[in-house]
Amino acid sequence: MTQENGLAKRIDGKAFAASLRVRIGKEVERLVRDHDLKPGLAVVLVGEDPASQVYVRNKGVQTLEAGMNSYEHKLPDDTNEADLLALIEKLNNDDSVHGILVQLPLPKHINETKVINTVHPDKDVDGFHVVNAGRLATGQAALTSCTPVGCVMLAKDTLGDLSGLEAVVVGRSNIVGKPVAQLLLQENCTITIAHSRTKNLEEVCRRADILIAAVGRPQMIKGDWIKKGACVIDVGINRIDAGNGKTRLVGDVDYQDALATAGSITPVPGGVGPMTIACLLRNTVQAACMIKGLDLPDL
Ligand code: GUN
Repeated sequence: MTQENGLAKRIDGKAFAASLRVRIGKEVERLVRDHDLKPGLAVVLVGEDPASQVYVRNKGVQTLEAGMNSYEHKLPDDTNEADLLALIEKLNNDDSVHGILVQLPLPKHINETKVINTVHPDKDVDGFHVVNAGRLATGQAALTSCTPVGCVMLAKDTLGDLSGLEAVVVGRSNIVGKPVAQLLLQENCTITIAHSRTKNLEEVCRRADILIAAVGRPQMIKGDWIKKGACVIDVGINRIDAGNGKTRLVGDVDYQDALATAGSITPVPGGVGPMTIACLLRNTVQAACMIKGLDLPDL
């Protein structure tokens, strides 16, 4: 997989996400034309976390660009839990809304698990509801967490069939680590989930044909932790001091160091990040089709 210069191929998630959004837009056009179905995504933001505000704005813009309806609900930081749950129930019962996303993290006084499990599983475009996690784990059709879906799409686009490959997932979160491991298992990979208590982490990483880094520690994974020619998917988005009074974004993998050993690698930014919103739009289209009893489009 390495390029002629011996360096890893750069996996262009930004370009892949753009082409996926075009396909989604065409599918939305078809749903509107043939079924009078315009998918709608409701995004709920509680508080004023700057990073969350940026994410929510981008989601709204890209939802509209794909030809879907976007509904934004911005609530103050001191919103009480009961009011938030009541809004979610209202969206659950609103026929123009096919997908509901509550931006995380939530303020400390709100129980995140309760909120996640109040979203109707059929509208849970984040795939966080316990029913969707269970469906995924048992191989049933499920709305699946967006970042993991994006990771596996990029790995398949790069490597083709993943069957029989060794995949090591570093990180065990409900949002990325666990679901990405489930998806790779469905692709017939042999899975290891590594985490902060894993012994000999470097050695474990060196076993990987596919290495998924989702720990949230800037540049933790070094070039010599990577098997020669491996496909490296970096989920980390960490802001570090750039030294000149500015900051810059880096992944969980030391990208420059990894270039010499990896066969292919996602950059940060421009790798997994853009895939997350594209997969959210894809999930919204899928949710709308499932709610209307239509066949799922091949996106
Ligand atoms: N905050 C950071 N990533 C996510 C995500 O994928 N979904 C939601 N709801 N909140 C997030």
